Amino acid sequence: MTATDYIATHTMVKEYLATALADDASKRAVSPETYDRVKALLQHSGVCLIAHYYVDADLQRLAEETGGFVGDSLEMARFGAAHPAQNLIVAGVSFMAETAKILSPEKRVWMPTLDATCSLDLGCPIDLFSAFCDAHPDRTVVVYANTSAAVKARADWVVTSSIGLQVIEMLDRRGERILWAPDRYLGQYIQRKTGADMLLWDSACVVHEEFRIQDLDQLQQVYPEAGLLVHPESPEEMVLRADAVGSTSQLIAAAERLPHPAFIVATDKGIFYKMQQRVPHKRLIEAPTRGAGGSCQSCAHCPWMAMNGFSRLEHLLRTWPSDCEAKVPADLLHAARRPLDRMLAFTATV
Ligand code: 13P
Ligand code: SF4
Repeated sequence: MTATDYIATHTMVKEYLATALADDASKRAVSPETYDRVKALLQHSGVCLIAHYYVDADLQRLAEETGGFVGDSLEMARFGAAHPAQNLIVAGVSFMAETAKILSPEKRVWMPTLDATCSLDLGCPIDLFSAFCDAHPDRTVVVYANTSAAVKARADWVVTSSIGLQVIEMLDRRGERILWAPDRYLGQYIQRKTGADMLLWDSACVVHEEFRIQDLDQLQQVYPEAGLLVHPESPEEMVLRADAVGSTSQLIAAAERLPHPAFIVATDKGIFYKMQQRVPHKRLIEAPTRGAGGSCQSCAHCPWMAMNGFSRLEHLLRTWPSDCEAKVPADLLHAARRPLDRMLAFTATV
């Protein structure tokens, strides 16, 4: 291959990737009429919309433009608890709405659909998890926020990906042995970084576990200038190659902080909306997944986050159906609040 062929081929590949990303984003966009109609409904309702980075860009924009919030799962929990609105709509997945309800039991918390769950929550049913805890009574139980209220109620600590490492470091310093659930990749990452004694539950995120290095080398040849940003729910092989590993907010901060002019991003592609806003001059590239050979039905986009569409939000704002309201039984709410409060108190000290 001559130098001219090489440059032409690489330019073609780059253009192809840029167009594919733009096409994908435009398919998910809503019409301006729909956007304005739903925005007016939301503003008249006095409800606060709290969105995760993984929901579609229009929903994130709507949250921002109506005095709501877009953030990672920890920040969403904090914002919902601090906001004076009596009604919150969570655009994310059901554990996020449950967490908001546990932290603000006096508020009403809604979702466009409560069917939006999470493979980690599904992969950690309370009966099996309880038996696991009962078999290891000497261990401190630390669970990831991506779990049901019942699992949280059984835990000593709840953590998110933004604070898990520091919490385990602190518990390890105190000489505590850990029982960790449910994400094994995040657990392995924290174990490797801290050297803590951690017994791991075996579950994974269906989106992040699809990221693979097999095509990363090729992509890095096309974009030698690009850094690699990896969410710690991804397999070890990705994490070990990363320039930054962290929660969604931490990855956005890394894109701003690191000097690279481009980034390959191994997390849900919903994050591109806010990340690109913060680094408008940098190129963002989706990390390779196993693609057609993998088990993921919509690689690099969480199928449950994708359920938060505008039509469901409009239906919620017009009819307030009871099956869209997050409810947590009082005993669970009380028990799950303790490990969540512990996490929030700890985050205030670091
Ligand atoms: P963050 O806590 O980083 O926002 O992650 C939540 C999540 O579900 C990642 O898949
Ligand atoms: Fe759960 Fe993965 Fe979706 Fe996050 S991206 S909500 S961990 S399934």
